[in-house]
Amino acid sequence: MTIAVLLIIPVLITVVVVLSSWRMFKDVTVMIWRAYFNLGKMVGPKAYPLIGTLWQVKTNSCDLTYQLLNWASTYAYYDGSTGLVKGWIGPIPLVLVLKPENVKKLLESNTLITKAEQYGKLADTNEKWFGRRKMLTPAFHFNVLKDYQEIFSKEAQVIMVDLLEGFADTGREVDLFPYVKRCALDVICETAMSTQMNAQMGKNSEYVKAVARLSDLVFLFIRSPWLWFKPVCYGCGLGFEFDRLVKMTTDFTRQANRRQSLIDEGRMDESEIANSKKKISFLDLMLLTQKKNALSDEDIREEVDTFMFEGHDTTSSSMGWSIWLIGQYPEYQAKVHEEMDAVFGDDDREPSEADLKKCVYLEKCIKESLRLCPPVPFFARRLTHDVVMDGFTIPKDVTAAILPMGSHRDPEQWEQPNIFYPDHFEPEAVAKRHPFAYIPFSAGPRNCIGQKFALAEEKTVLSYFFRKYRVEPTTPLPGNRFVPELILKPEDGVTCHLFKRVRAW
Ligand code: HEM
Repeated sequence: MTIAVLLIIPVLITVVVVLSSWRMFKDVTVMIWRAYFNLGKMVGPKAYPLIGTLWQVKTNSCDLTYQLLNWASTYAYYDGSTGLVKGWIGPIPLVLVLKPENVKKLLESNTLITKAEQYGKLADTNEKWFGRRKMLTPAFHFNVLKDYQEIFSKEAQVIMVDLLEGFADTGREVDLFPYVKRCALDVICETAMSTQMNAQMGKNSEYVKAVARLSDLVFLFIRSPWLWFKPVCYGCGLGFEFDRLVKMTTDFTRQANRRQSLIDEGRMDESEIANSKKKISFLDLMLLTQKKNALSDEDIREEVDTFMFEGHDTTSSSMGWSIWLIGQYPEYQAKVHEEMDAVFGDDDREPSEADLKKCVYLEKCIKESLRLCPPVPFFARRLTHDVVMDGFTIPKDVTAAILPMGSHRDPEQWEQPNIFYPDHFEPEAVAKRHPFAYIPFSAGPRNCIGQKFALAEEKTVLSYFFRKYRVEPTTPLPGNRFVPELILKPEDGVTCHLFKRVRAW
C-alpha cells in the first residue's frame, strides 16, 4: 500500500504538471523546430543539442560581457555580414541583432514591443504597458523636468561640496562610484516619490544594499535558464531571497505614499500637471490621476518601483563611466574645464536651462561614454510574429536581443569604434551616421521615457564636479572591465585622485 502510494503520487504530479504546461510546451517546441530550420544558415558560435551554446558561455558575468563583444566582432563585423548572430541558451534560440537597419526594424515596430521572458519578474504585458506609458508621459513634460533641476542641483552640491572636498589634494585615493550612486538615488527618490532618502548622508543603507543585490539577481536569472524553473529557483533559495528583497523595497515605496495629502490638495488633470508651478513627483502624478486611469494602489507602487530601478542605477553608471573616461584624457578634461569656466566663471550657481544648453562639450563626452559603456548593455524582445531580416524568417516567439555595447562599436558607423572620442558627436558626424547606430536609450515606441531627465541630471551633477575638480583615475586604460549587474558597472569602481581647480576665467 505504502509503495503503491509512493509510486502513484509522483506519477500524478507529473501528469498534472505536463497537462497544465502542455500548451506552453507545445508552443515552445514549435518555436524551437521552426528556429532550427529557418535559422540554420545564420552564423553564430557552435551549438550542441540541448546544451546549445551554453558550453561556451562564461559563468563569470564580467567575462560573459567580453564574450558577447567578441561574438559581435567575430560574427557581425566583417564585410557582407548581416549582423544577425544566432545563439542557443540551452535548447532555446536567441538572435542577436547588431546592424542598425535591423535594429530599426525591431525597435520601430508598434507590434514588437513585448519584453522577453528572460526579464523574469521585471517583465510586463503589452496591454499594461500601453496604458502606463500614456499616463506617465506628462511626468516627463518639459515644464515638469524644469522643476527637478533644483533637486539635481541640491543633491549634486551635497556630494561635491560637503563629501568629496575632504579627499581633494590629499593624495588619498577615492572611489567616486558609490558617491555618484547615492547622489542619483537621492535624486530619484525625491523626484519619484517626493521623499528624502538621504543615502548620501548614510541613511537607508539597507534599501541601498537591497537594490544592488536585486540587480545582481535579475542578471543572474537572465543568464541561467535552469533558474527559470520555479522549483529550482526557490529550491536553491534565490527565489526566496528575491521575494524578500522585493518586499523590502516595495515596503519603502509604500511608506512614501503621500495619498492623503494629495487627496486633500484636490485633483488635477494632465494638462494642469504639465503647466503646474508646483513640484510634482511621479508618485503625485499617479495619485492625482488614479481614478481616471483606473489604477490600483498596487499598480502605482509597481510603477514607482520601476522608476526607482530604471532611474538611478543607469544614471549613476553613466556618470561614473563619464568621469573615469574624461579623466583618462587630460586634453578632453581640459576642454571640459574650459567650457565650465566659459559658462559659469567662478560661480557655483545652480545651472539654468540656458547654462546646460551651453555645456555642449560636456554633453558630447557624456554621449560618448554612453556609447562605449552603455548602462543598459543589452535588452530583448520576444517576437510576437514572424519577422524577416536579411532573408531569414525569424519565427514568432524567438527572443531577439539588441546589444548596444556591440552595435556601438560597429566599425562601419564609428570612426574610432573602441576609443573614447567625443568628436563622434560633432553634428556632421552625427548626420552621416545611421540613426539607429546609437541606441543607449533604445528607440521607437518603447524607448527610455527618462532620457531627457537623465541627461539633465548628469549634466548638472558633472557641471558641479568639473567646475570644482580635476580628476586623475588610478586605474589606467584599458583597465576597468564592465561588470554587467544588469546595468554595466566599472569593475574597479571609479578610483581617482582629486585636485581642486584654480578657475581660469
Ligand atoms: C543614462 C541613463 C539611462 C539609460 C542609459 C536608460 C536606458 C534605457 C533603455 C535602454 C530602456 C529600454 C529597455 C528595454 O527596452 O528593455 C529604458 C527604458 C526605461 N527607462 Fe531608462 N535609461 C536611463 C535613465 C532613466 C531614468 C532617469 C528614468 C526615470 C526617471 C528611466 C525610466 C525608464 C522607464 C520607465 C523605461 C521603460 C519604458 C517603457 O517600457 O515604456 N530611465 N531605459
